Amino acid sequence: MKIIKTGSYEEMSRVTADIILAQVKQKPASVLGLATGSTPLGTYKAIIAAKADFSGITTVNLDEYYGLKPDDPQSYRYFMDENFFRHINIDKAKTHVPDGTAADPAAECARYEALIQALGGTDLQLLGMGHNGHIAFNEPADSFPAKTHHIYLDEQTIKANARFFANPNDMPKSALSMGIKTIMGARKILLAVSGADKAEILKTALYGAITPKVPASVLQLHHDCTVVTDCLD
Ligand code: GLP
Repeated sequence: MKIIKTGSYEEMSRVTADIILAQVKQKPASVLGLATGSTPLGTYKAIIAAKADFSGITTVNLDEYYGLKPDDPQSYRYFMDENFFRHINIDKAKTHVPDGTAADPAAECARYEALIQALGGTDLQLLGMGHNGHIAFNEPADSFPAKTHHIYLDEQTIKANARFFANPNDMPKSALSMGIKTIMGARKILLAVSGADKAEILKTALYGAITPKVPASVLQLHHDCTVVTDCLD
């Protein structure tokens, strides 16, 4: 694992943006795995400012709340459109997010997993990390969920994310999320972690035991994982 320590959120965002921009330049037909949350917002802003050519790029997002429509301002599809896609020259048909409105969540997860494989896998996967060490919506568990799956969210995650909802009770209790094997299949992984409140869990993930109780710890096993963070000295 390569660990890049930055002095600020802005620097972390610039460094992660530069790594993604280098990937886009090197392979203009890349498949990029993208993430939501407050952490990657600065990364997306820095990429937008670079005015790079995204016309050949395909994207696959990590996850989506189950039950939210794509035009719901709290959906991850809406987040991606608003904060990134509508500011770059990407073909919207080549941007993929799991369908949170699917009547059969298991079938939707199978479709999404097959889509990623049909695209030839992900060239570079951007990840954030939750306060409990989750990546995408892979919550601490007794085993690593392999493929894209329907998952019930932890109390801690519901609490952490409910702040974005006008009525916290509207926060969905489940989500569709890439699995650990899906994520680990990416040819490159870029983990961005920001904020002093994540320092302890990040150290546990990077230097502790590899365990599904700390889902991000599995990244220690990836052959090309770069961590960019402003929360380590
Ligand atoms: C959500 C997302 C994760 C993200 C995490 C951290 O739960 N499913 O992909 O990494 O939040 O979010 P934030 O960056 O806002 O701390």
